[in-house]
Amino acid sequence: MSDMRQYFKAQMELIVSTPELHARWLNSLSLMENTGARKISRFEDPVHTNIIVLKHAAEEARHAYYLKKQIAKLHIECPDYSFEYLLAPIQSYQYLRKLDAAACRYLKDERGYKGRQMYYGAYLLVTYAIEVRADELYGAYQQALTAAHNRVNVKSIIAEEEGHLEEMTRMLEGFHPEWQQMATAVREIESALFKQWLGAIKKDIDTVVTDKVTAAYN
Ligand SMILES: [Fe+2]
Ligand SMILES: [Fe+2]
Repeated sequence: MSDMRQYFKAQMELIVSTPELHARWLNSLSLMENTGARKISRFEDPVHTNIIVLKHAAEEARHAYYLKKQIAKLHIECPDYSFEYLLAPIQSYQYLRKLDAAACRYLKDERGYKGRQMYYGAYLLVTYAIEVRADELYGAYQQALTAAHNRVNVKSIIAEEEGHLEEMTRMLEGFHPEWQQMATAVREIESALFKQWLGAIKKDIDTVVTDKVTAAYN
């Protein structure tokens, strides 16, 4: 197992075993899914919208709602997406927006795209990069949930994200013959943003754990 995976696994276990962290974790994921759903809806053309895009928007919105509903199983209140109810709030809010802006810049500067085609390409590449990440993230998270016999589960999300990845791959094949090089470039950008996000999550976890230890000794 790579260092990154090992590290990730340890973080997941800690989150799953600490309800106040777990609730905020779920809420952050819900926020990010909701940001994705809203982004897809904004991208939709009023006329030329096909069933794949509709399905994708509906499923991302469902993920946001489903994750939010899971929080109730922990008996902790996270009524909205205020900073206090999130882990890594700033990074969770900015991740998708930054990734999308960077993908647009890449398509414009390196590939000469502009206008609607640039936004379309960014939609495909960003979604692709996110789905690859989602696969890894939700996979590791579900493993930790299963190992801990936690009542929360994200299996239905994993199944739908796999479908999205297949759809994006198919659409990218139609977008450009060199789509794989493009996807590699955008995945590198995504990797850097994900590391920042994970670093911020870790910082918040450390704060909560330290506070708990301090409280226990007082
Ligand atoms: Fe999703
Ligand atoms: Fe998705």
